[in-house]
Amino acid sequence: MTDHMGRGNKEGNSANCLLSFSNEINNLGCQFASHQPPHAPFEPRGRQATAGRRRFRRPRKLVDTVGRFLEQRMELKGKVVVVTGGASGIGKALCEAFAAEGASGVVVADLDGAGAQAVAVMVGGIGLRVNVADEAEVRQLVAVATERYGQVDLFCSNAGVIARRDEDAANAEWQRHWDVNVMAHVYAARAVLPQMLARGAGYLLHTVSAAGLLSQVNAAPYSVTKHAALGFAEWLSIAHGAQGIRVSALCPQGVVTPMLLGADAASGRPSFLADGALSAEQVAACTVQGLRDERFLILPHSEVLGYFQRKASDYERWLGGMRRLRAKVTGDAS
Ligand SMILES: NC(=O)c1ccc[n+]([C@@H]2O[C@H](COP(=O)([O-])OP(=O)(O)OC[C@H]3O[C@@H](n4cnc5c(N)ncnc54)[C@H](O)[C@@H]3O)[C@@H](O)[C@H]2O)c1
Repeated sequence: MTDHMGRGNKEGNSANCLLSFSNEINNLGCQFASHQPPHAPFEPRGRQATAGRRRFRRPRKLVDTVGRFLEQRMELKGKVVVVTGGASGIGKALCEAFAAEGASGVVVADLDGAGAQAVAVMVGGIGLRVNVADEAEVRQLVAVATERYGQVDLFCSNAGVIARRDEDAANAEWQRHWDVNVMAHVYAARAVLPQMLARGAGYLLHTVSAAGLLSQVNAAPYSVTKHAALGFAEWLSIAHGAQGIRVSALCPQGVVTPMLLGADAASGRPSFLADGALSAEQVAACTVQGLRDERFLILPHSEVLGYFQRKASDYERWLGGMRRLRAKVTGDAS
């Protein structure tokens, strides 16, 4: 693991990030598992629930906005953040967004050490070459971040891999997906949770995918491992929520990054997810809002919640629809 100290002009870059970031967030309508905060302070639940009583009428949009604002709990300002896969795409945009929000330390980790260093310079953090599939390197990443900044408040397991392969992908390919998309999240939790549990506070963000809730019809190892990553995030939230640990699962559909642009390059066709794909900056803006609200499920593409609900309410019908989608995507109408 190589340590790269980023010494960029943090103030200037942060200001630029902040400007573009606030523009992004204004243009977004992120979808969370429920539009309502869990305990919306302006929602007169008791009175509304009582039939025949005076109805409480309210300008819904305004009250929802105020309610959401009051419900914001996770403040990124002053927090120490680690982002894996931070050299590119969503990870890079997360680093920029966290710096713009006033994080006191941003640790950029990636297999691409030079790329991590370049992002670190932009956000005034530190860049590290880390292979997240190696537990010793993940432990070392947490140790270096803690030594440099005192503690880790938010760990983002974001690095991921995809190959457009069916069940016949080689064992080594399945293993690579398992190591990066799942075990890296386990290694991170093992490395960082002890200090978080000791403080009774800490946040784990897992970049999963809509494929973890639904499926990626042309990528078996990716679909399976993203389901597993979601299962682990869910388990962490259940096991450690009462101990002050917060967990979010970021589940976008298509995002315009090298992963999306590269994965289908061999087929010569653009990814079916390119239509409606968001920018990495839009996804990062949604993520910041989701973290603020301490939402488990962060869905930058609003339609994913509806798909997920349809899957749960009629699995057979949903499978039929997904078969038709796969036939269309792979060009196999048989
Ligand atoms: N792009 C999309 O359409 C999309 C959609 C849903 C979910 N995601 C998820 O978002 C995450 C980020 O992907 P992206 O789209 O920004 O892709 P990307 O290719 O732009 O970035 C992925 C980064 O992860 C790094 N990485 C890969 N293996 C690593 C390893 N073993 N150790 C350390 N770093 C490693 C790569 O070097 C790269 O910088 C992934 O988990 C991906 O599955 C992406």
